[in-house]
Amino acid sequence: MEERVISGEVSDFDERFEQSLRPQFLNQYIGQEKVKENLGIFIEAAKGRNESLDHVLLYGPPGLGKTTLATVIANEMDVNIRMTSGPAIERPGDLAAVVSSLEPGDVLFIDEIHRLNRAIEEVLYPAMEDFCLDIVVGKGPSARSIRLDLPPFTLIGATTRAGALSAPLRDRFGVPLRLEYYDVEPLKEIVVRSAGLFEVAIDHQAAVEIARRSRGTPRIANRLLRRVRDYAQVRGNGSITMDMANEALEMLQVDSHGLDHIDHKLITGMIERFRGGPVGIDTISASIGEESVTIEDVYEPYLLQIGFIQRTPRGRIATHLAYGHFGYEMPKHNDF
Ligand code: ADE
Repeated sequence: MEERVISGEVSDFDERFEQSLRPQFLNQYIGQEKVKENLGIFIEAAKGRNESLDHVLLYGPPGLGKTTLATVIANEMDVNIRMTSGPAIERPGDLAAVVSSLEPGDVLFIDEIHRLNRAIEEVLYPAMEDFCLDIVVGKGPSARSIRLDLPPFTLIGATTRAGALSAPLRDRFGVPLRLEYYDVEPLKEIVVRSAGLFEVAIDHQAAVEIARRSRGTPRIANRLLRRVRDYAQVRGNGSITMDMANEALEMLQVDSHGLDHIDHKLITGMIERFRGGPVGIDTISASIGEESVTIEDVYEPYLLQIGFIQRTPRGRIATHLAYGHFGYEMPKHNDF
């Protein structure tokens, strides 16, 4: 197999660690069965015709494996992957620099593709449709447009906000795939697989407990596993038992639903200061000191998924499930 080219943003320590756990091929990728089934067919068909795979849009909440899946797709197609992100491409020349190094069939991965600016999107359309790039070189009267021919390639875009993509860009992806939160069973399998890669013993029950508290998200499951492993090494004999897992998770302030202190602040803030809502996202943001986009992209999707909050035209509402979980009595006027 050829060496893979990975470029783009520098990843932090956790990110690198995470990468070492990542599955390389579809048959190692746990969960997302529908997505895998679709991809398996499209990949086999494209390979059978000796063509590049159609452009793929991966969307869904953070931490569900979009980058991992892009790498898996490139491996399955046996091509190189070039990685970049929406904010990293500031000018058309930045895009030209990345795409001009592509070989036939290669994957270009653009993370946070909703953050591309309009000027870049305009240049991207013909690149996606006709595999050519029209860029303007020079300034003023001497400016001229040159056309670069590109090899056929597969653009894989990833985003947490498919709705923020312009319709023309969204429509140019032949394979839009939505990643869903993981159920406990596949998350448990991921925890067991990762523990195996770490060469650390883990009880079945402990793996289930970590999975249950991971908010349906493999990235969180792997992060909790690393912290529980630390705890078991220092306070125990290194093996991850149910007791070790429970004690470590308690110390980390991760509750039985996997909610952390920011979720707590968010919900108890809504209940105590705004009588459970409806309250606007900017008001919540100001009252707890977290950015609105972080609340919307990172915290809210899971709280919506488990039915702790609801979105209404007048703002967010804490539901009876949230009241119950945090031990509050539901006000009478409020029957959500
Ligand atoms: N590690 C992180 N996500 C994974 C997945 N979906 N399958 C296997 N290992 C993983």
